[in-house]
Amino acid sequence: MVREFRAKAGQPATLRITGLGLYDAYLNGHPVCDHRLEPGWTDPTKRLHVRSHDVSDLIRDGANVLEVMLADGWAVGHVAQKRRQVWRDRPALWAELDLGGEKLATGPDWSCRRTGILEADLLMGESYDATMEESELLPVLVVDPPAGRLVEYDGPPVRATQEVLPIGVVEKGTWNGKRLLFDLGQVITGVVRARVVGGKGAHVSLRHAEVLDAKGELYTANLRTARAEDHWTLGADGQQEWEPRFTFHGFRYVELSGEFESAEVVGIVLGTDLLESGGFECSDPVICQLWSNIDWGFRGNALSIPTDCPQRDERLGWTGDALAFMPTAFWLRDCREFLAKWLEDLTDAQREDGSVPPVAPDPGIGLDDGGPAWADAIVFCLHQHWRQYGDLDTVRRMAPAARRWLDRELAQAPDFIRCHPGRAGWKGFGDWVSINAETPHDLIGTAFLAESCRLMADLDEALGEKGPYREARESAVAAFQRRFLTSDGILASPSQTSHVLALAFDLVPTELRPKLVQALADDIGRRGWKLSTGFIGTPLLMSVLSENGRHDAACRLLAQEDWPGWRFPIRHGATTIWERWDGWTPEKGFQDPGMNSFNHYAFGSVGRWLCETAAGLRLTEPGGSGLRFAPQVVPGWEHCRAWQRLAGGVASASWEVVDGHFHFFVQVPAGSHAVVSLPPGEVTEEPFPPGLDGLYQAGPGSYDFAVWLEPGPEGLGP
Ligand code: BGC
Repeated sequence: MVREFRAKAGQPATLRITGLGLYDAYLNGHPVCDHRLEPGWTDPTKRLHVRSHDVSDLIRDGANVLEVMLADGWAVGHVAQKRRQVWRDRPALWAELDLGGEKLATGPDWSCRRTGILEADLLMGESYDATMEESELLPVLVVDPPAGRLVEYDGPPVRATQEVLPIGVVEKGTWNGKRLLFDLGQVITGVVRARVVGGKGAHVSLRHAEVLDAKGELYTANLRTARAEDHWTLGADGQQEWEPRFTFHGFRYVELSGEFESAEVVGIVLGTDLLESGGFECSDPVICQLWSNIDWGFRGNALSIPTDCPQRDERLGWTGDALAFMPTAFWLRDCREFLAKWLEDLTDAQREDGSVPPVAPDPGIGLDDGGPAWADAIVFCLHQHWRQYGDLDTVRRMAPAARRWLDRELAQAPDFIRCHPGRAGWKGFGDWVSINAETPHDLIGTAFLAESCRLMADLDEALGEKGPYREARESAVAAFQRRFLTSDGILASPSQTSHVLALAFDLVPTELRPKLVQALADDIGRRGWKLSTGFIGTPLLMSVLSENGRHDAACRLLAQEDWPGWRFPIRHGATTIWERWDGWTPEKGFQDPGMNSFNHYAFGSVGRWLCETAAGLRLTEPGGSGLRFAPQVVPGWEHCRAWQRLAGGVASASWEVVDGHFHFFVQVPAGSHAVVSLPPGEVTEEPFPPGLDGLYQAGPGSYDFAVWLEPGPEGLGP
């Protein structure tokens, strides 16, 4: 799209801009910003994000030209499985250049021309013929605006956040031309910038994959229908460079083939540019790699929205995945705007009758109700946001939608049993990708109903309102006990996830908790110290064990080398978190290519336990005005640290063990108050005496503690 105009240098100029599909704007040949894949992903029938850019510096004296490239993106291109043109049949632009009062808005006085980009699709890839002359200027077609609101947005954009150089390249055999296979050494989300020496008109293909097959070739079966290929026709002789603008892939390996003499690539990491907000480290190198995988997993799946995966023909804002991972994401990046934006997407996706689909934005995947955990994201993620950032404005804005959903759920479960097998309707995804363990859908449903009621009651109280949800929770808990507790006081369902939910959501009488904890640990032990949990149980499993006297069992799960367990993928070279515990095994090779992503963050939810339990720092009040330091030492570790940036500065918990002597360094930022609890043993250093309860109350500042650890059954002490 092109608009020529006259102006004076130095004159103030602001560009307000959005589009259906994607846009990249240039003023007099200069990019107006460094954002990528704008305007990001929202449901344009509900809302579309408008950016404002101060472009005064780019204005020249006399003739000026504003050019905007358009491409398919989410609104027009393929989204999820095989579908195109979900929202529009062609890309469109809305822009307004304000030249100090005089406004040049998109309309019939604009022109357009074709470029050499022949295809640009998020799932399929980009094709660019650099020999193609740009067409002459053509008239534009004025189309109806989308139904959604235009909303000014200045949240973090997608950017190129890092460049990754290959760690290796192999020349592969081919019957003509050349074929080079580059290894970036890291699964990333993004594109490559290629530099090639070749002749004008020569064709170069770029194919992408996360992993290699047994023959050392790209394994692309798990991408399903996502072609994930870029094509480039060289525009001149000699050395040239190209980087696709309007696509992204999830990959570690990229293969360049075609007629060229030599080629180099660099990986360009794309994602919403979120500030680092925390971190974790310890003396176990495998767990440090796990942390890195968790971080890369989030970076790869935070692209305008939180996605399930960035590589196959899916890449959707799956709500259950976000619910599982967000508490860990807070330890990595500042998600305040990012999550608030997606909560808007979620309420936009909500149906008239209050139900919440399992993806947001929803391109029409055909499910109105996400079912337990997935639909509950509307309450859980709002609560997570509030706990983390203490931001009541977001709660106030979103609470009506969350209540509408919860009221509907309660109405659908007149006896407080959600997803009752005797009632019609969708029963949810269950404990997705669990291992040889079934958890009844009505147990999951009822547990989540009770917990959503509790969380909604918290949110209401934070707003100073008294809603019906505290009471509703009590009824749901009573219903849970009636249906799922036997007369012997054990759970009718033996699965680990059933036990984890009952304990984490506090659904059984206190006196029965030890029995349930024992049953959970026994099941883990019987399986050879292996978990059986899927997306629902895994995020809570470790903390349930550690907080209920079985930290030893949690540590054994973390130490597990085989699958299911966190170390197994790392032993096999993983640099991100796998969707499935057995995505690849030596015995069976790759799992079902129909569902086998190597970059799915849900099981990375263990990151929260690493920071909050192993390092021992957690937020106990919204926004971190209250903190609790209570480390539980992991046997064999010599040191461990977690830190997080809060409004008043950095909170940090850091410990080291030297010959059974435990040193704990605590940092409490301004505006926070902390409670410190030390592991059992003889205290040898304390900055001030503890209270009668044995806990230390600490205001802002830095404190050192030391304890001779008690030799415990876990072998923690000397
Ligand atoms: C996605 C998941 C999602 C699930 C629903 C899958 O296809 O990749 O991560 O939560 O469907 O169960």
